[in-house]
Amino acid sequence: MNSEYIPSKLPLKKNIETKQVLKKVIRANVALAELKGAAKAIPNQAILINALSLQEAKDSSEIENIITTHDELYRATVSTTNISNGAKEVQRYKEALYKGFELIGQNTLFLKKHIVQIQQVLEDNNAGIRTQSGTKLKNSITGEVIYTPPQNSKDIHDLMDNLEMYINDDSLDDYDTLTKMAILHYQFESIHPFYDGNGRTGRIINILYLVLKGLLDLPILYLSSYIINEKTNYYKLLNQVRTEDSWEEWILFMLDGVENTSKKSVVLIEQIQELIEDTKVKMKTELPKIYSKDLLELLFVHPYTKINFLVEELKMTRKTASNYLKQLEEIGILQNVKMGREVYFVNVALFKLLQKDV
Ligand SMILES: Nc1ncnc2c1ncn2[C@@H]1O[C@H](COP(=O)(O)OP(=O)(O)O)[C@@H](O)[C@H]1O
Ligand SMILES: [Mg+2]
Repeated sequence: MNSEYIPSKLPLKKNIETKQVLKKVIRANVALAELKGAAKAIPNQAILINALSLQEAKDSSEIENIITTHDELYRATVSTTNISNGAKEVQRYKEALYKGFELIGQNTLFLKKHIVQIQQVLEDNNAGIRTQSGTKLKNSITGEVIYTPPQNSKDIHDLMDNLEMYINDDSLDDYDTLTKMAILHYQFESIHPFYDGNGRTGRIINILYLVLKGLLDLPILYLSSYIINEKTNYYKLLNQVRTEDSWEEWILFMLDGVENTSKKSVVLIEQIQELIEDTKVKMKTELPKIYSKDLLELLFVHPYTKINFLVEELKMTRKTASNYLKQLEEIGILQNVKMGREVYFVNVALFKLLQKDV
């Protein structure tokens, strides 16, 4: 499709919550509520945000063929030396997600300018909303044009203003929040307001929207792993909403993603919780003199840790910090990794857990 397409403004004036959609809406909401509850069991919220957002950052970037390994990714959280571009991009995705979380925490509204700020962190440039024409979505193998989004800057701004209104004014239609999330994801991708980073920014918006509406307290829905597995479908369905008006299929697809991912995330959170307990017992038994709740939590907030984190966050001397890390290494909780001149310590069991796809 070579001529530009101007998506209709929201709200949609159609009845898309069919009986099947409503059934799934309920299931997805139940699963999501369980995830919200499970997250509360983890003592320190930074543990979950760090672990799950990094996972999400990795997967969301992988959808766009930005591939990195877990090892490198975690190293990128502590050091910038010898880090590939892929790992840097993933790190920026995580920063963009945090930025957005911070912005909606400070404001009760989620605005167009916030979306621009998120994309700016993600792409590390100031290009902002497109002003030049020429952006098209192409098949990466054949080069065939799949979709031509609005080209004119005024149209893009109008549509973004409309999207902003839809995000913030719940009274525009009476769809369930999860149905609205599916609608606005399609709408955002169709507007495609940026030169690049639209897919990743759009997936960050999804998570933040759920936080904004109170369905989650933390940005921890791990939707991109589902999208990777269903990538062909994801692309196909986005297109079919436009070409065949197949809203029901698209919404069911997204709801399935929410249900599926929430369930997996609950399992992962339970495993993290168990691991924290096991580590606590091990530390208390084998290293009773150095055990503290703060030290235990620090090892989970930073899967890769270093002397400085202990010095800064636990207010100890370098000597004590180094001694503690050594002891934790001796009992097998940590393992040291040398990078350049610095030494880091990886929480072995946590790293293994996060690495495997639940
Ligand atoms: N047919 C389509 N219509 C609208 N959006 C689409 C379509 N196919 C794919 N997309 C979206 O476009 C994204 C890719 O756009 P791009 O700006 O390159 O984002 P990123 O740089 O984050 O990959 C995909 O991840 C998907 O969300
Ligand atoms: Mg891209």
